[in-house]
Amino acid sequence: MKLVVPTELYENESRVSITPDIIPSLIKMGFKVFVQSNAGLGSSYTDEDYKKSGAVISFKLNDLYSKADLVVKVQRPFKQKKTDEFKLLNNCSLITLLYEQKFKNEFSSLKKLNINVFALEKMPRISRAQSMDVLSSQSNLSGYKAVIDAASLFNKAFPLMMTSAGTVAPAKVLVIGAGVAGLQAIATAKRLGAVVSSFDVRASTKEQVESLGAKFVQVEEKGDSGETSAGYAKEMSASYKKKQAKLLEDSIAKTDIVITTALIPGKPAPKLITKKMVESMKVGSVIIDLASEFGGNCELTKHGETVNFKSKKIVGPQNLPASVSQDSSRLFAKNVINFLMNSCESGKFADFNWDDEVVKDTCVIRNLKK
Ligand code: NAI
Repeated sequence: MKLVVPTELYENESRVSITPDIIPSLIKMGFKVFVQSNAGLGSSYTDEDYKKSGAVISFKLNDLYSKADLVVKVQRPFKQKKTDEFKLLNNCSLITLLYEQKFKNEFSSLKKLNINVFALEKMPRISRAQSMDVLSSQSNLSGYKAVIDAASLFNKAFPLMMTSAGTVAPAKVLVIGAGVAGLQAIATAKRLGAVVSSFDVRASTKEQVESLGAKFVQVEEKGDSGETSAGYAKEMSASYKKKQAKLLEDSIAKTDIVITTALIPGKPAPKLITKKMVESMKVGSVIIDLASEFGGNCELTKHGETVNFKSKKIVGPQNLPASVSQDSSRLFAKNVINFLMNSCESGKFADFNWDDEVVKDTCVIRNLKK
């Protein structure tokens, strides 16, 4: 079975889908791994590293894709005058992050091809699939990097410092949304010495937030857990939203840095931080809006840009996982191999296990007749 690892072609995408460390396991599963020359360089993995792990380096795109059984990519296929990855995909399976609702044209082009497509963002949130969950592994690193970026944009120190020249007060960080990214942001900000508080609609996150040493800011709404039966955040009632806005208004005015990560699966990101709230923040404050790709939690966020508003910075990061690509690629690759392992029989991969929930849920196109 030929497994293909192309170079990612989108701007700002420095990750690679398969890292050298997992190639021996792929070979054991029955794959022959072909890697495009320099595909891993953006993540500091050289052709030499891949070769040592047992991969074959391909220098020409046609050679790389020829007779491929499985193509693994971080981002959806790319089409430009010079390179058209859609034309290279034929008679194979593609594993990637797709976001079909957002990238409708790419999705409809893929539907016309004789291929199967597995969209990794569709991984079901069940315990068994945790090790295959790309969104979680990448969010975790985003949460970390958001705090590091905020610290470097902020013109004060994070920890409390008692010096002979006087005391430096610790930074105050508010993390909105205590999911995977939020909890890592809390942990990172705490390690840097900030005073951290956090807020989430899911009441069950209180314990997790407090276990990291942060204060949980709670909206009192009797009898509402804020969760669906599947454990997702749900859209809250008008009365809840009103109480939440008041609480946020009070908290934000006292905060130096806001890391916001609130998402409701399948819906645009909830708008939680109004322009008025930003106005109330101290000059020099920083907001890092991790929900920017889905519309943002702050009214002023622009995806991929840093907005300067009355000497406060609102950052809508383009691709935070790619800014820690060495680790994010490694975790992405590990998620992919766990996904493939799930379909293995006696350690060997022959085909996807079509009866399995993780295969059924992630397979968004099934055209391949093999
Ligand atoms: P997410 O990225 O969909 O949302 C981020 C956070 O925003 C969530 O904690 C959500 O409750 C919160 N949120 C939504 N609306 C909000 C609002 N209006 N105000 C404040 N907060 C709001 O979620 P994520 O981080 O991917 O996962 C959430 C939880 O799901 C995790 O903590 C984990 O327990 C669970 N999970 C389980 C998986 C598995 O079992 N395979 C995989 C991924 C997550």
